[in-house]
Amino acid sequence: MDWIQLRKDRLEVYYPTDREIEEAQNIYQQVSDIVSREFDLKTELVGSVSRRTFISGRGDIDVFVLFQDELDEKELDQRGLEVGRKVFRELGGEHHIEYAEHPYIQGRLNGWKLEIVPCYSVESGVLKSSVDRSPHHSRWMRDNLTERQKEDIVLLKQMLDSAGLYGSSLKTRGFSGYLCELLVYQYGDLRSLLQNVQGWSREMRIDPAGVDTGHGFESEFVVVDPVDPERNVAAVLSEDNLARFMLLASDFEREPSADFFEEVDRQPDRLAVKKEIERRREILALEFDIPDEPEDVLYPQMRRLQSKLVTTLERKEFRVFESGFYIGDRARLVVEVDSDRTGVAGRRGPSVFHDPGHIEAFRDSHSKLYVENSRLMAREQRELTDVRQVIKRFSESDSNGVPDGLDSRLRQMCFVDPKSGDEDWFKFLEQLFHLENRWEK
Ligand code: CTP
Ligand code: MG
Repeated sequence: MDWIQLRKDRLEVYYPTDREIEEAQNIYQQVSDIVSREFDLKTELVGSVSRRTFISGRGDIDVFVLFQDELDEKELDQRGLEVGRKVFRELGGEHHIEYAEHPYIQGRLNGWKLEIVPCYSVESGVLKSSVDRSPHHSRWMRDNLTERQKEDIVLLKQMLDSAGLYGSSLKTRGFSGYLCELLVYQYGDLRSLLQNVQGWSREMRIDPAGVDTGHGFESEFVVVDPVDPERNVAAVLSEDNLARFMLLASDFEREPSADFFEEVDRQPDRLAVKKEIERRREILALEFDIPDEPEDVLYPQMRRLQSKLVTTLERKEFRVFESGFYIGDRARLVVEVDSDRTGVAGRRGPSVFHDPGHIEAFRDSHSKLYVENSRLMAREQRELTDVRQVIKRFSESDSNGVPDGLDSRLRQMCFVDPKSGDEDWFKFLEQLFHLENRWEK
């Protein structure tokens, strides 16, 4: 389809209307008046609503309350919550506390999500906490984005969202709204971005505002924050999600179509998943209660648990093919293993280049030695031949490296039939078995 037409069509669906903007402004004004009257504090509208880069119908009104930077952090937390609660008491609407680096109040008002976030009013060079950047982001974007770029940003967000790649939570590990804005700004428009993405190398350092100081970052894909050169805006983006975006972009460039913006809410193909389970090696699913933690804490913990379990199984000489986890009402961890029960295994000893003392000790306590990858090994009868027993032992071990809150739930785990579960469970298995990839159109 012709891009000019396609772009126009999609903008009619996803670009925020004037009415929406007015409504949001209106709510912001009411909030601002209350905060100024009751607390004598200044506020600022930040985030995508402040710059018209949100997906129509899905905007959240992010109001930041600016506190003097002498205030200590405990006081900031407490006063911030007080202000948030007061706003909702006056305007009505259900609300609750959310936790980021600092707690804040989030709720709903006339169909909008409204967030009241405390931050320090500081110059961009002397940021005290990570939220302090947001007002600076808003100002920078207001000064630098063109109308056309704002439209393209909305389309990019929608495209990423429908591919499951939008959002910087530690659950999704995708593209944040601010990252989308910077990418469109950097390449001028959406099409140039999508064309350029295909040639990205593993190591990328994008510096949209030309402020890079050469600061070292952990990840190889870096987008330097215009208001804080020591922050990588893409820090949360996982390497796999970056790769998926690169493929998505090349798919789109081959044949642009409205499909790339569609929300897919398909029923999972249960039968296909069940057949796949039959076809695979042994699929084990263990289930346990979820600790009461925010997603940004829980998801990294589950990833750690998954990798610890896989390592444990591999140490016991089980080959692991796929592994993953699912969070529904309870948590489920899945592994696909080759559960051969020959009962013979190789025990790993030290590298032959290691301290001679260690090598001596290993030789004294083991027989039937051999060498593999320059490491001393001993042929042994497998201590536990049943993979389920190995998993059970792992779940009950005090030294399995799993964080406490999660570990106490894991101890109560049980094995469940992977062929039974709700719709989301089957969607999850479709992804795990690569039967369905949302980013592939
Ligand atoms: N922010 C950030 N990095 C993140 C998340 C948020 O810098 N990983 C800052 C940005 O300044 C962002 C603001 O917090 O504009 C509000 O965050 P959020 O509402 O999550 O993103 P938006 O940019 O408003 O995008 P949208 O709401 O449309 O998803
Ligand atoms: Mg927002």
